[in-house]
Amino acid sequence: MRDFSRNDIDLVLKKAEELEPFARGKKSRELEGKILAMLFYEPSTRTRLSFETAMKRLGGDTIDMVSAEASSVAKGENLADTVRVIEGYADAILLRHSKEGAARMAADFSAIPVINAGDGAGHHPTQTLLDLYTIKRESRLKDLSIALVGDLKYGRTVHSLAYALTLYGANIWLVSPEQLRMPESIKNDLSHAGVSLKETPSLVKAIDQVDVLYMTRIQKERFPDPSEYQKVAGTYRITLELLRNVRENLIIMHPLPRVDEIAPDVDSTKYAKYFKQSFYGIPVRMAILSLVMA
Ligand code: CP
Repeated sequence: MRDFSRNDIDLVLKKAEELEPFARGKKSRELEGKILAMLFYEPSTRTRLSFETAMKRLGGDTIDMVSAEASSVAKGENLADTVRVIEGYADAILLRHSKEGAARMAADFSAIPVINAGDGAGHHPTQTLLDLYTIKRESRLKDLSIALVGDLKYGRTVHSLAYALTLYGANIWLVSPEQLRMPESIKNDLSHAGVSLKETPSLVKAIDQVDVLYMTRIQKERFPDPSEYQKVAGTYRITLELLRNVRENLIIMHPLPRVDEIAPDVDSTKYAKYFKQSFYGIPVRMAILSLVMA
């Protein structure tokens, strides 16, 4: 996410706004003849399918490795070789990988653009762009107060989002259990960028102070020891009861999938924006593909 300036982000958000009618079905041939290769070494629903939809809505096509197990990765092929082969098949690569820095490394080997679709506990920049678009559409980016809640240690979406928010002068609450605090290196970067940071394990302290509540799942799959996960599982859960004194215009976001961080009866409140947020992935990813490939 640190590759992006404020102007870069604003350009993507503006383009996404222009493309929203096409995300809803209006015909476009902008990427006709172009192919996006989808390399997912980790599971995904939203990122994979929204990129595929985005590509098809722009008249382009996709090829899909399906999974590491279904490809020659299972025979021991390394990422550098895979990327150098795929660059002969496609116009851009979309890569999700379990290792931090994988997308950066793939980009070093690839002659075609590589889009980071999530690298381990590192970053998830395209999620951040759609998160910013959601905030712009459903709340406001100026003078924003936001609480990032849950797994701030392993959650790549909050790492990327926190960096992007420094460019908009947001006030950020970091709400997590002690064991899952935002890494010191990221907090230092945020502080140096002049962000107002407040850190607390108490969701109750933050919930009525913010415009955006950004909930995250505790990333079970990243814990080296399953018993450590059990100690923090279910720490935070948004319920109707908790929403009694929140700001009138509060929005609740979540990159999804959720486990039990948000009670299902919150879905029908005016605060819940997480399903709209996942739709906004289409125009934002159309904008990214258009800027990268057109
Ligand atoms: N938000 C997100 O990245 O979801 P997926 O893991 O389903 O792609």
